[in-house]
Amino acid sequence: MEKNKYYNNRRRVRANEHIRELVATVKLNYREFIQPLFVDESISIQTPIASLNEINSDTIESVLTQIEKDLQAGISKFLLFPVPLNKAVNNFDYRFMLQTLKAIRNRFAGKVWIAADVCLCAYTTHGHCGILNEEGNKILNDESVKVLADYALQLAKAGADCIAPSDMMDGRIAAIRISLDSNGFDEVSIMSYSAKFSSQFYGPFRDACKSTPGNGCNVSDRKSYQISSFNGNDALLSTIRDIDEGADIVMVKPALPYLDVIKELHQITKVPLAAYHVSGEYQGIELLAINDLIDRGKAHIEVWTALKRGGASIIISYAARHAKKWIETIHY
Ligand code: PBG
Repeated sequence: MEKNKYYNNRRRVRANEHIRELVATVKLNYREFIQPLFVDESISIQTPIASLNEINSDTIESVLTQIEKDLQAGISKFLLFPVPLNKAVNNFDYRFMLQTLKAIRNRFAGKVWIAADVCLCAYTTHGHCGILNEEGNKILNDESVKVLADYALQLAKAGADCIAPSDMMDGRIAAIRISLDSNGFDEVSIMSYSAKFSSQFYGPFRDACKSTPGNGCNVSDRKSYQISSFNGNDALLSTIRDIDEGADIVMVKPALPYLDVIKELHQITKVPLAAYHVSGEYQGIELLAINDLIDRGKAHIEVWTALKRGGASIIISYAARHAKKWIETIHY
């Protein structure tokens, strides 16, 4: 066939909304979204989080109302973070988080799916995700894993559907799996923060959870347990290891700066892959929108399509509760 000068034109598939919709390679589905929730023991009414636009901290009571609203907006999957009142260095008091989980389960039974964050950073005086040694210069791996596995079991007993360890200690997936299985919670799943990078983009979250590391100790960052952005292979190896230890869902976090990791993982494993568009990534979009520099909904949608193109099948986003509404009104 003879090729005329129009043969390779691409604009035919861009010509109008109908054909753009037909040829789209990514379709978003609000059912694949998880909404993070914060419950804070120090407040008595729902309170806006200054660092996260339109996101609130909840009391046990207000989180039930929030979930009711979210269900109406099409969201039924949640990732729950506690902000306990009392911090310690060991022997942590989990009662507030456990009470919250029980209250949610009592009210909503099987209508909601709750993943409970497992980490110690909101519980420790020093803000680290594990137990600190006496000298205050090292986060102890195995001691932390023991505590985390015990906490995970208590969360399962309180009604968590899924355990989501974000601590980044070695061996915690295996320890949690054994702890759950040997106590009759073999149906509780594990979503591992398997590719969690040491990142600037957690700033607004740490504000919300009062979990900035370094207070009263000699370790001011999480680089000795979170993955370096200079080492993509570490993220792949960490994820393969966690799958081997029993992770049901694995995760890349933050999302957009690590799209290459999402894509590579999607190519090497068929284990469900979640992308966590974290607090700083979310707030970046919000601040641009507040300043009238971008359209908020369209910007979030654009990021979500990137994550799906990359191969994520689950999206964790602070804007998840808007996903259904925004997706319904997408203009291709
Ligand atoms: C706790 C934890 C963090 C996030 C989730 N779990 C912060 C951190 O590791 O410092 C970040 C989530 C976000 O920024 O949205 N380990």
